[in-house]
Amino acid sequence: MNNFNYSIPTKVYFGKGKIKKLGEIAKAYGEKALLVYGGGSIKSNGIYDAAVEKLKEAGVQYVELSGVEPNPRITSVEAGVKLCRENKVDMIIPIGGGSTIDCAKAIAAAAYYEGNPWDIVQDCSKITKALPIISILTLAATGSEMDAFAVISNMERNEKLGMGHDLLKPQASILDPEYTFTVSKYQTAAGTADIMSHIFEAYFTTDEGAYLPDRMAEAMLKTCIKYGPIAMENPENYEARANLMWTSSLAINGLISFGKTGEWSVHGMEHELSAFYDITHGVGLAILTPHWMRYVLNDNTLNKFVEYGINVWDIDKSLDKKEIANFAIDKTAEFFKKMGIPTTLREVGINEEKLEVMAQQAVRFGMEDCFVPLTAEDVLNIFKDAL
Ligand code: NZQ
Ligand code: ZN
Repeated sequence: MNNFNYSIPTKVYFGKGKIKKLGEIAKAYGEKALLVYGGGSIKSNGIYDAAVEKLKEAGVQYVELSGVEPNPRITSVEAGVKLCRENKVDMIIPIGGGSTIDCAKAIAAAAYYEGNPWDIVQDCSKITKALPIISILTLAATGSEMDAFAVISNMERNEKLGMGHDLLKPQASILDPEYTFTVSKYQTAAGTADIMSHIFEAYFTTDEGAYLPDRMAEAMLKTCIKYGPIAMENPENYEARANLMWTSSLAINGLISFGKTGEWSVHGMEHELSAFYDITHGVGLAILTPHWMRYVLNDNTLNKFVEYGINVWDIDKSLDKKEIANFAIDKTAEFFKKMGIPTTLREVGINEEKLEVMAQQAVRFGMEDCFVPLTAEDVLNIFKDAL
């Protein structure tokens, strides 16, 4: 277990009806908010009405930025910055999934940056101050509600970049599992795959002795495997939605990566798919993950896959180690398939054409410290396997 500093400062208000706290929470940060939301799901399912009612009761004024895209664009960030400056807002309240919350985070930092907002996406060390964020989550997936990251796309440049800074951590997040009842089957599956991928990225490392984080990670994976299909089958199953929602937050807030090292592998590859083809993040991850697992399985990584197979998939530990590892990877692929997620890149409209340039871009910030170091050629091979 390596040294670490523990800091998970977001105040979480979890459970049915917790929107009632919004007025009181917002009031503590000032008089005026920027509400940020997506393409309108919050209007049709009543979450928008519930939130503005609470703000009005508390006397908090608000202006709105709507239409934030899945894979949020830098253009939406720019529009939000303009609104913050024109209206002198004190806080930002994103209501939605990861795209909306990420957009709000980038706005929060860019509002205090004089230059082009894309500069701070490219180089987070330029962030010196950020408006407070109070997030209201409506989709269990990214963990943006409790982490320091935001992922912003610049479609003109075919770039999708992650930014990370302590100042981007939400001050508070309202997590009402009922708010995810209206999430489609497709997004529920994609969200579950995203949560699982965050856990894999923390779990598959070369660290020795990180027993506690790895056992917590396995419990989280089992939670996704148990409740993902239930939430798809019965969207209003509170227990399933609640367990998935809390797992989404815990998977990426640091809890299972404190004490561990190493860079992420599959996310860097997937972000290129989204940057060039605008596909759903969790779907890209689910397609790539089994192929990445097969590619990095070797004598050095075998034991980790065996641990995964036995502890997560309950595979008989008396079997041959290679058999257990391969079986575990098969189970992973089968699970995503059972969730109705496409299994090949072609199914989501990706062919050979741009694989090489995407592979080059995926490694431009380095993938040497991954579970298994990856070169552009390795990434290209994984993309080809996934075609
Ligand atoms: O836009 P609206 O109308 O709200 O509809 C959204 C959107 O179409 C819909 N939706 C959300 N909540 C709903 C709902 N529909 C019905 N009922 C509800 N309650 O779902 C669609 C997808 O929403 P989006 O926010 O794009 O999904 P997600 O939460 O998966 O976010 C994906 C984005 O987050 C980034 C991804 O790369 C992608 O850009 N990530 C952010 C991370 C972070 N901040 O830490 C880490 C992740 O690895 C990820 O990269
Ligand atoms: Zn992700």
